[in-house]
Amino acid sequence: MKIQILGSAAGGGFPQWNCNCRNCAGFRAGTLNAKARTQSSIAVSVNGEDWILFNTSPDIRQQLADFAPMQPNREIRDTGIAAIVFMDSQIDHTTGLLMLREGCPHEVWCTDMVYQDLTSGFPVFKMLEHWNGGIKRNRIPVGEADNSFVIPQVPELKLTPVALLSSAPPYSPHRNDPHPGDNIGILIEDTRSGKTLFYAPGLGQIEPHLEPIMTDADCLLVDGTIWRDDELITSGVGDKLGVTMGHLAQSRNEETGEAGMIEFLDTLDKPRKVLIHINNTNPILDEDSPERAEVEAHGIEISWDGMSIEL
Ligand code: MLT
Ligand code: MN
Ligand code: ZN
Repeated sequence: MKIQILGSAAGGGFPQWNCNCRNCAGFRAGTLNAKARTQSSIAVSVNGEDWILFNTSPDIRQQLADFAPMQPNREIRDTGIAAIVFMDSQIDHTTGLLMLREGCPHEVWCTDMVYQDLTSGFPVFKMLEHWNGGIKRNRIPVGEADNSFVIPQVPELKLTPVALLSSAPPYSPHRNDPHPGDNIGILIEDTRSGKTLFYAPGLGQIEPHLEPIMTDADCLLVDGTIWRDDELITSGVGDKLGVTMGHLAQSRNEETGEAGMIEFLDTLDKPRKVLIHINNTNPILDEDSPERAEVEAHGIEISWDGMSIEL
């Protein structure tokens, strides 16, 4: 399977429009050795023509323009997007759907919780009904036995959703009442080769049910949001901890003694390890930083916009 990183940044992108943190200011000044990044999204295909788009970021227009296979020329109006899958209903993962209105109806796959948010707190699915019928919604089941599914447009791939502990977005009617399906990871298997990708751009905790999945996967494309759990606070841009936002920091939490993403990934031998959804405050964006060197010394890659992975 072909995996294309369309966007590798967390919400806000990098540099973020209103941010003067060390990274954002350094990038603008040209003094930081770093790449600009759009908000996180990937596309996955088998034949290189029909792509499953995972999340629709606010940067979708630029992301499609930057990846030629997304603009095939079989008809006067055309796209490489065969279906859209939502991992959650966060603004950085869903607002781009509005920019795709000219292509309605889209085949959209999401959990019931995401469907609820996108028809209530942020009623984008309802709004789009006025564009050629809007979306065709397909249900991603969670918490049910054998909940794997196949998207008919890319039938070689088997997708298995995994419920992740997290909370719904700030605008959600059930923000303070978490449910399975607010946020999922997905194991994507190419049934021809048996190769698997585990994709989880928002991963707050390595829950026991994740360990076997991540141990056996050929490639992990997982939450790289923050280096330190209190990074938003120490860099002066916010008041939330990573744990509150559902993002596991890369480094060990010195307050609680809990292991970070690096320590967990170190326990896995098989998979290729790649970080995505990197926040603009994260020191690993600075390619000359000690934190960047540490991640790389552990054999962990940091994805970038335009990166391709073939499994
Ligand atoms: C997150 O990943 O925690 C959210 O996307 C934050 C946001 O709303 O930008
Ligand atoms: Mn996000
Ligand atoms: Zn910043």
